[in-house]
Amino acid sequence: MSLIRPEARSEREVRVRAPGKINLSLRVGRREPDGYHPLSTVFQAVSVYEDVVASAGTGLTLTVTGAQADRVPTDETNLAARAARALADHVGLDADVHLHIHKEVPVAGGMAGGSADAAATLLACDTLWRTGLPREVLHELAAALGSDVPFGLLGHTAIGTGRGDQLAPALSRGEYHWAFALQAEGLSTPRVYAAFDDLHPTVRAVPGSDVALLQALRAGDPHAVGLALHNDLQEAALELAPGLAEAIAVAHDAGALGAIVSGSGPTVAALARSRQHALLLAAAFTAAGVADSVLTAVGPVAGARIIQSGHE
Ligand code: C5P
Repeated sequence: MSLIRPEARSEREVRVRAPGKINLSLRVGRREPDGYHPLSTVFQAVSVYEDVVASAGTGLTLTVTGAQADRVPTDETNLAARAARALADHVGLDADVHLHIHKEVPVAGGMAGGSADAAATLLACDTLWRTGLPREVLHELAAALGSDVPFGLLGHTAIGTGRGDQLAPALSRGEYHWAFALQAEGLSTPRVYAAFDDLHPTVRAVPGSDVALLQALRAGDPHAVGLALHNDLQEAALELAPGLAEAIAVAHDAGALGAIVSGSGPTVAALARSRQHALLLAAAFTAAGVADSVLTAVGPVAGARIIQSGHE
């Protein structure tokens, strides 16, 4: 027999899980007057997750636990708090919610952890507040928060253009196993883009797409995907964090199918032949002393999704 206590019914909470990402390919064009760069990128969502629990509260409050939680702001500058505020403003509600974030994705690591928090928060608050916004509206709110937030909602594999926020799902067969070399010290995305501008003053206005990679994903061929991994920001990230070159070399020596800086770095992503090989690559990173910590993961995985909802 279950007893429903009236006061408990108000403690409704929604738990949403959103994935981190890697850019299998990231091609960057010339900086535009608004400061942003046109991109052509292929995202893959990977099984490193952020969990956001949204529960009824008074005002907007935030707590954070998990990996590198001490490096995450808990005031209104936090991207998840801004997501809750943006959704509340859009529908004309007070942003009354407590957000609890449990982190697995590295902070400022080039894997869009903060963006995953924002994507998860949009979905969690939309459910908690019963605002029931259409996906397209959530996508628009997401894009206004940051270039990688829409992909946090969508997940799987997608082609990103514009600032990386205009998405089209891409066909992808099979599973891809990854090992990640993480650094304690993050890299600032604007700084990496600025270094890119200095290194490539004559880059073309809009980058081209990545036919070889898309074909390799469609065929489910990890060897071809490994060869097609590409990141235009890598040189800039290596200039700011030269030690990353060693992590890439370690991955190659340990038989990785490919190894690149993830997004704006400093995380290095190495594509493995299997789950076991991913563990071996992670061990190689640790043994060589080129990572402050390591993770393994598989992709592609789903975007933000509700994993628990109801009355406590
Ligand atoms: O959109 P988001 O807030 O994630 O971007 C952070 C910073 O990264 C921007 O302020 C900009 O300096 C840089 N950026 C860029 N071109 C993009 C995406 C981000 O220059 N397409």
